Amino acid sequence: MRQTAFPKTFRVKSFGCQMNVYDGERMAELLADQGIAPAPEGEDADLVVLNTCHIREKAAEKVYSDIGRLVKAGGDKPPMIAVAGCVAQAEGEEIMTRAPAVGMVVGPQAYHRLPEMIARAARGERATDTDMPADAKFAALPARRRSAPSAFLTVQEGCDKFCTYCVVPYTRGAEISRPFGDLVSEAEKLVEAGAREITLLGQNVNAWQGEDDAGCSAGLDGLIRTLARIPDLQRIRYTTSHPNDVTDGLIAAHGEVDKLMPYLHLPVQSGSDRVLKAMNRSHTAESYLKLLDRFRAARPDIAISGDFIVGFPGETEAEFEDTLRLVDAVGYAHAFSFKYSPRPGTPAAGMDGQVPREVMDERLQRLQAAIARGQLAFNQASVGKRCTVLVDRRGKLPGQWLGKSPWLQSVFFKGEAAIGDLVEVELAEAGPNSLAGRLLQPAHA
Ligand code: SAH
Ligand code: SF4
Ligand code: F3S
Repeated sequence: MRQTAFPKTFRVKSFGCQMNVYDGERMAELLADQGIAPAPEGEDADLVVLNTCHIREKAAEKVYSDIGRLVKAGGDKPPMIAVAGCVAQAEGEEIMTRAPAVGMVVGPQAYHRLPEMIARAARGERATDTDMPADAKFAALPARRRSAPSAFLTVQEGCDKFCTYCVVPYTRGAEISRPFGDLVSEAEKLVEAGAREITLLGQNVNAWQGEDDAGCSAGLDGLIRTLARIPDLQRIRYTTSHPNDVTDGLIAAHGEVDKLMPYLHLPVQSGSDRVLKAMNRSHTAESYLKLLDRFRAARPDIAISGDFIVGFPGETEAEFEDTLRLVDAVGYAHAFSFKYSPRPGTPAAGMDGQVPREVMDERLQRLQAAIARGQLAFNQASVGKRCTVLVDRRGKLPGQWLGKSPWLQSVFFKGEAAIGDLVEVELAEAGPNSLAGRLLQPAHA
C-alpha cells in the first residue's frame, strides 16, 4: 500500500445485525473525535469502513464486491479502506491477501484501536488487529453525545452456545457482560442526548449478568428495572434473547415494568426436535412453546418474534412441516427466516444430507407465507387499540408521520407531530407490514 494523506472525511457502512449498527455508531463517534468528519451525503469519503457480517455466505461475499466498487469509483485516488466486523474477525488474513486495496482489518473487539491503525495506514503500513481483549473496547471509546429517539445499547456480547450452523461464537468470542454501572451511565448519556427508547443488545442479551450498585447480583431484569427509573426514558426493549437464558425474573418484569415494551424476540430456528438437537439448540419445540405461555401469562398482549432456518442438513419434508405447525401455533407478530448457509469451520457444514437449493427455496416460500399470515392476523387484531407511537420519521405524504407501536409495528398517521414525539393514536387499519393510525393526542414533550 502506498503512503496516503491522513483522511479528512469518513463513511461507515454497517451490515448484519443491530450490534453491528451499534458498533458502527461507536466507530463514527471515535473517528469524529480524531477530527475526521463524516463525508457529506453523495460525496466520496477519504476513509471507508466496511463493517461486515459473516452470518451467511451472501453477506460475507459482499465485502469483496464492495471493495472492488470502492477501488473502481476512486480512480487514481482510491479511499483508505478498513474492513471491520465479523468477516474481518473470521477472514482477516484472507482479506489482506485477496484485496491489496484494504489498508486495515479490525475485529469487532478491537475497533477502539482504529485511530492508531489509521495513522499507520497513512504512512503506508497495512495493519490487522483481531485481538479479543475482554471488555477493553468500551472503556476506550468516547462518551455518547448524540442519539436518535430510538437508541441501541450493547450490554452483552459473544456466545457460548455453539449452535452447529453458526459463526457467531467464533467471530464475537465468548459471552461477556458489560458492567452495570457503565451501562446505567451510557443509558443516561443517551437519554440526555435525545433517546426516548433504548434497545438493549446482546447476541444472547438475556445471558447478561452483573452486580448492581448495592453489590447484589443482577440479571437482565434487574438492569431493566434500574434503567426504567431514568425519568425521560420512555421505552425499553431488548434483543436477541435465547430460550435457555430466560429467567422467572425476566418474565415477571414483562408484567411489572410499564416501560418494558410488550415484545419478545425469541428465536427457535425449527419446530422439529430432531433438527433442534442436530443444531445443538438444547431446547425442544414444546419447551419453547411453554416459555411463550409463561410470557403471555405475565403480559397477555406480548408480541412474539423469532428466527428460522430452513434446509438445515438432513431436514425432511415432515420435519419442515413441524416448523410450519409451530409457526401457526405461535402466531408470530414478526419473524425472520433464512435458508441454511454452510459456514466454514462450523460442524453443520460437514454434515450429511445437505438440502438442495430448490428444496430450500420452496420451503422458504411456504414458511414466509405462514409467517406473513400470522403477521397480518396480529396486525388486524390490533385494530381499535389505543397506544403510543414513538415517531421516528416523516411519511411520504405531506403531514404524514411514521413511528413504532409498543408491539414494534410500523404505524403511520397524519397530524401535528415531530420526530422523537411519543404520541397517542388509535390503530385504524391494518396491512401486512404496517398500520394506519388516527392521532388522538399530540405530543407530550
Ligand atoms: N444469537 C441469536 C441470533 C444470532 S444470528 C440467537 O441465537 O437466536 C441471527 C440468526 O441468523 C439466527 O437466529 C439464525 O436464524 C440465522 N443464522 C445463523 N447462522 C446461520 C446459517 N449458517 N445459515 C442460515 N441462517 C443462519
Ligand atoms: Fe449463533 Fe446459536 Fe449463539 Fe445464536 S445462540 S449466536 S444462533 S451459536
Ligand atoms: Fe453478522 Fe456478526 Fe451480527 S456475523 S449477524 S454482524 S454478530
